[in-house]
Amino acid sequence: MQNQFDSSRKIEERRRLGQYATPIALATEIISYGLSLLDTNEIKFLEPSCGTGAFFSALLSATQEEQINSITGFEIDEEIYQIASSLWDSTFFNLFHENFLSASCHRKVNFLISNPPYVRHHLIDKNVKNKMQKKVNVETDLYISGLAGLYCYFILLSHKWLEPHAVSGWLIPSEFMDANYGIALKKYLLDKVHLLRIHRYSPEDAKFDDALVSSCVVWFINEEMQEDYEIDFTFGGTHEKPIVSRKIRRNQLENEAKWTAVTSLASKGVDHSDIIVPTLGDYFTIKRGLATGDNGFFILSKEQISALDLDMSFFTPILPSPHILKENEIYRDSAGYPQLEPQLFLLNCELSETELQDQYPSLWKYLESGRELTGKRYLCRKRKKWYFQEKRAAAPFLCSYMGRSKNDKDAPFRFILNHTDAVATNSYFMLYPKAEITEVLDKNPDYIKNIWHVLQSISRSDLVRQGRIYGGGLMKIEPRELSNVQCKKLHDLVLEMN
Ligand SMILES: C[S@@+](CC[C@H](N)C(=O)[O-])C[C@H]1O[C@@H](n2cnc3c(N)ncnc32)[C@H](O)[C@@H]1O
Repeated sequence: MQNQFDSSRKIEERRRLGQYATPIALATEIISYGLSLLDTNEIKFLEPSCGTGAFFSALLSATQEEQINSITGFEIDEEIYQIASSLWDSTFFNLFHENFLSASCHRKVNFLISNPPYVRHHLIDKNVKNKMQKKVNVETDLYISGLAGLYCYFILLSHKWLEPHAVSGWLIPSEFMDANYGIALKKYLLDKVHLLRIHRYSPEDAKFDDALVSSCVVWFINEEMQEDYEIDFTFGGTHEKPIVSRKIRRNQLENEAKWTAVTSLASKGVDHSDIIVPTLGDYFTIKRGLATGDNGFFILSKEQISALDLDMSFFTPILPSPHILKENEIYRDSAGYPQLEPQLFLLNCELSETELQDQYPSLWKYLESGRELTGKRYLCRKRKKWYFQEKRAAAPFLCSYMGRSKNDKDAPFRFILNHTDAVATNSYFMLYPKAEITEVLDKNPDYIKNIWHVLQSISRSDLVRQGRIYGGGLMKIEPRELSNVQCKKLHDLVLEMN
């Protein structure tokens, strides 16, 4: 029935309500671990977003009927609710076709397991979000960021349903551990309940083929802890047989912005609390490349420029996007352009329309052809003149900030050495050397290669620690995060060269 339902709905529609059912093997693993934490023979179970009931099925398979006092489920989707009601009709079932996030609590529970919808913040209606933020604040005293995904609200708004010492297990994206939007949830886990364990599934082993998320299960007991205590962080494999397993103290976590960083560092047995390691941000100003407003209109090949009879002085060379650029070292020709085929150029004109009309009629004509479509785009509309580009110098180093590793050691991002005058679009980060590196390069320009090799040798784990991993192993990093990547070797190299 689940398969039938999944194939009858468009993926966009399922994404809107976060409709990804838990595969039964995974539901069984989670329920069986949850039961091992539970200290009662009278289970009062809640699934706040029950779907067709993967967890009901796993729970009933793992228990005797007489252990069940009640099973409560909420499901917002009429069709899914009907399927669930047709399947689960014993007397202890209470299924509601209702929005759990606005429901009031009428039955406290001692066991809650959920795979809540992972709907991202921009798909949540603004008014609904405002109401939920207020509700979170009233019920938990926490301020939740507007950037939080729907699953964060599910956890916080289900607190009122928990009996003292109730066991909760949430299958959710690992992202909250590192993202700023996860602050309220992390505070809840450390201050309002007793966090027992976070088991992170290996991102390479995506749990949901179609949802692109890296998942974890967060386990806690509804009790406030006065003293410091140890929390289990496990990674890879299953709950029963994780690949890595570490204990981290609650008080240490409280001071950490990125929980995955502490846990992976700890997995190597490194205590980093008092070591200051230089980071890329000490040596480079890292900026996203240019947002042109419309690459198709503003970026032209040499052939297009001459066919349109445009003046070359209005063009700056620009690199093709990373998926087209195969080389990692870009050489320059006599004009300072990249020795690449095709050579691309960014239209970079600072003249007014009247000046163009009088002096450069072919360029004026070309711009006129883009006024209606390109000129009305958000970025272009915000500019003083819709075709003015941000002024940017070329950068000697670039980084493609999205990618996959071929293996455990391979770095997911490319560092590119640019000998040319070409700028780059925002599909790259541009690394502009700060004083120490500039000084080294002024003295000996050849050292540029040594610096590049050091950038290329940054380990996968150092990059991953700062960035984020999505399901299927796709990795991404933000400029600020890349600035935080440790680079002891660069520090040593600069010392050696000075
Ligand atoms: C990720 S699916 C998981 C379904 C089920 N828990 C499982 O593990 O297979 C989330 C479910 O929550 C439902 N849902 C979304 N928003 C909801 C809400 N506000 N209240 C109750 N259910 C909701 C969706 O329709 C979907 O069936």
